[in-house]
Amino acid sequence: MDIAGTSALVTGGASGIGAACARALASRGATVVVADLNPEKGEELAAEIGGAFARVDVTNTDELKAAVEQADALAPLRVLVNSAGIGWAQRTIGRDGSFDSAHDFGAYRKVIEINLLGTFDAIRLAATVMSRHEPTASGERGSIVNMASVAAFDGQIGQAAYSSSKGGVVGMTLPVARDLSVAGIRVNTIAPGLIDTPIYGEGEASEQFKANLGQNVLFPKRLGDPAELASMAVEVATNSYMNAEVIRVDGGIRMPAK
Ligand code: NAI
Repeated sequence: MDIAGTSALVTGGASGIGAACARALASRGATVVVADLNPEKGEELAAEIGGAFARVDVTNTDELKAAVEQADALAPLRVLVNSAGIGWAQRTIGRDGSFDSAHDFGAYRKVIEINLLGTFDAIRLAATVMSRHEPTASGERGSIVNMASVAAFDGQIGQAAYSSSKGGVVGMTLPVARDLSVAGIRVNTIAPGLIDTPIYGEGEASEQFKANLGQNVLFPKRLGDPAELASMAVEVATNSYMNAEVIRVDGGIRMPAK
């Protein structure tokens, strides 16, 4: 699917993998709307790539709807990348046998709201708008790419909330692709391994932490570059025969229990 002259919406587009996807989609001729909570980084990136910024909290349907409409007003919306996401690390129970030390249930709910419900809300709204357009020369109306995580499959100790949210994204990939097939919209999910983004913090301590993490990767023994994820996102967005698939991009890592 040729995306030149179309628009693309990237949630979480102000940072890390989302920002790399926004740059890569723009380099293929799409006008990108960077939909994110962070206006400083979002505005700066939008200016760099000739796109637009939309201040969006993916847990807010009205803000998502406005961003989808903003993108579609710039050019026909053909691509959605769902990259907004947060992490959380806490064991399911505490050590002292008290209810109070059990996993923070509000935190569990928040991770699900952003990573899982936010993804599905963006999909149903963007796909609705995509479904209104005439198909492209390749017979498609659009393409959706979600960022899950290898934690959907190899969740570590403390990753109950995060793995649940990403497992939900993996689980919706096939049924949503089936739902949207009538409209000519493809849906794929990428499961990144350990990728070098601000999600691990910034500064000397986090650089050391990341260097140690990289030793667990099969090959190459380093963290992934966001551009390597963006390359896969653009491939699945534009390759007309990619549909309903979940693809690990992880250097072969299989996460241990901890
Ligand atoms: P990041 O922290 O660099 O970027 C995430 C972006 O999402 C930020 O710009 C943040 O402002 C935005 N965001 C957070 N909550 C939001 C909300 N409620 N509404 C709108 N925007 C919101 O993170 P990174 O590493 O680029 O992660 C992108 C996606 O990839 C996430 O879904 C993450 O779970 C996933 N992922 C990342 C991995 C990694 O190693 N970096 C590994 C596996 C998955």
